[in-house]
Amino acid sequence: MILVTGGAGYIGSHACVALLSAGEEVVVLDNFCNSSPLALERVQQISGKRLTVVEADIRDQDAIEKVLTQHKCTAVMHFAGLKSVQDSVAQPLEYYDQNVIGSHRLFQAMQKTGVKKIVFSSSATVYGTPKFLPYTEDHPLNAINPYGRTKLMIEDILRDQYVSDPTWAVAILRYFNPVGAHESGLIGEDPKGVPNNLVPFVAQVAIGRRDQLNVWGGDYDTPDGTGVRDYIHVMDLADGHVSALSLLSSPQCFAVNLGTGAGSSVLEVIRAFEAASGKQIPYEIKPRRAGDLAAYYAATDYATELLGWKATRSLEAMCADHWRWQSSNPNGYA
Ligand code: NAD
Ligand code: WQD
Repeated sequence: MILVTGGAGYIGSHACVALLSAGEEVVVLDNFCNSSPLALERVQQISGKRLTVVEADIRDQDAIEKVLTQHKCTAVMHFAGLKSVQDSVAQPLEYYDQNVIGSHRLFQAMQKTGVKKIVFSSSATVYGTPKFLPYTEDHPLNAINPYGRTKLMIEDILRDQYVSDPTWAVAILRYFNPVGAHESGLIGEDPKGVPNNLVPFVAQVAIGRRDQLNVWGGDYDTPDGTGVRDYIHVMDLADGHVSALSLLSSPQCFAVNLGTGAGSSVLEVIRAFEAASGKQIPYEIKPRRAGDLAAYYAATDYATELLGWKATRSLEAMCADHWRWQSSNPNGYA
């Protein structure tokens, strides 16, 4: 049995589908602060399998210990946490509380109950301003906002824990920019309020919920002047988690990138989404967004070598699947 914290969220719900399809049993622990229980109904519909749902907060150590022992969990996939860079600047204490203290409580519960295998959702944001590209896993770590620092702190806690007890098995997965949705269109990203991220915003323009996209900066040192990112299909990402989990039968601690290795600009994403949706995306070039980097993308050799995993889905597939989800669920899970 695998405990999936934050399993009702965007990435966690797709990972649950991948886990159930791989024959694993799943118990989800989520407080639904940024998700809907309906996502988990849909996960079961897609996979034709049942999972167990526990509504609880990761800062509640007793609740986690109870779940780990009652369900005889052997490993944890840890997605739960807050993820907005902007909010983390405005409310750093909330972010350190939910992400760092929450993760610490989870790890203590694991230690106490003898569950020593964990896959952790980290982020390319831990690398900070690129010293070189692509980011390899040994690129210096220098998070440049509170959200990124919470991810780096949690990584450090896990590395320290492994040093103190090398019977742990720790997979730190550094995601690049997850987009897209399950091919069924039944689950996908459902941001609350105005989306901060590019593809969810573009999708809401396409469906008519927003008038136009603001492109944050057209004067970067990139081929077309707009920001470049490594977008990865959320189902490729989910499959990467299953590969990482399968390595945890032996004690080890590693950090690995999950990206495609290819960068796409904002204008390339707009064109790909227009082609996938058949809708025009009106946009306007605006000043740069504070804290944004010009370009970054993943080195992927280590993931291929270590996990035997590679992202296979194209930007076109990411946009087509994202659009299927958005157009069949115009208001998300609401
Ligand atoms: P999400 O907000 O959709 O999912 C997070 C889930 O955790 C939600 O279901 C939420 O209700 C739950 N949650 C939050 N705080 C909780 C708490 N204290 N106790 C219990 N449950 C709690 O986000 P996501 O995009 O699915 O991201 C999942 C993980 O991946 C996060 O840790 C995020 O930081 C990380 N990550 C995301 C991205 C991205 O771009 N989406 C990139 C890199 C890393
Ligand atoms: C992508 C590109 C924007 C919105 C963030 C976090 C990162 C990780 C993933 C969790 C940039 C441009 C965006 C818009 C735009 N999350 N853009 N108009 O900033 O690369 O990464 O999410 O770990 O930590 O920082 O993603 O989707 O916000 O932006 O022009 O309305 O799209 O400037 O070039 P980002 P994003």
